[in-house]
Amino acid sequence: MSSEHERSHAIDESRFFSLGEQRVVVEDFPAAGWILDIGGGGEGVISQLKGNQVVAIDLSQRELAGINADSLKVIMDARELKFLDASFDTVTAFFSLLFVNPPDHARIFEEAFRVLKPGGRFLIWEANLPARSDPIKDIIVIRLKVMIPHKEISTGFGYFWPDHVQDDRYYVDLARKAGFRISEPKGRGLTFSLELTKP
Ligand SMILES: C[S@@+](CC[C@H](N)C(=O)[O-])C[C@H]1O[C@@H](n2cnc3c(N)ncnc32)[C@H](O)[C@@H]1O
Repeated sequence: MSSEHERSHAIDESRFFSLGEQRVVVEDFPAAGWILDIGGGGEGVISQLKGNQVVAIDLSQRELAGINADSLKVIMDARELKFLDASFDTVTAFFSLLFVNPPDHARIFEEAFRVLKPGGRFLIWEANLPARSDPIKDIIVIRLKVMIPHKEISTGFGYFWPDHVQDDRYYVDLARKAGFRISEPKGRGLTFSLELTKP
């Protein structure tokens, strides 16, 4: 790609609204069998934590190819999972849902619910996004310092800033509509984690 081309596609930084750097601690968690990690590309945090137990799915081949872990990487759309009903004990989404068009969220919760076994868990780590308040700044940027056992991972993402509040309550509402039982969100600053169970 020419530098001319790159320049013409560079995003104007005045559009960025930064949430600053957030520290996220991801403890190891018990999980039997395969773990389905939705939007599991990028750093592949869940792949790095749980290795060859993980099936990491992502729309982007490039995002999957960069993962430095022994997970199974599959190009797949979380809106239409290619797994049979009740295939997994655990589904995870680590800072993936903020990268999804909000109208697609309900469908992704329904799909996660469908592929989980009864008693299975959907574990989510996410950001509490405020509603967009600036007509110029339409891209929200978050940097993460992720602590997994014995390792620290620095990463960052930017995506279109929604005009509604997209916080733990927003996701709890989607989860309830999909049929999940919900634990109280665990929050730390602008990030939170959520544990959902398929009854
Ligand atoms: C910010 S990254 C997630 C970070 C990643 N979980 C990690 O551990 O570094 C969001 C990912 O979600 C993926 N994504 C967005 N919509 C998706 C969809 N409908 N199905 C599957 N992946 C999707 C994007 O391609 C992107 O790689």
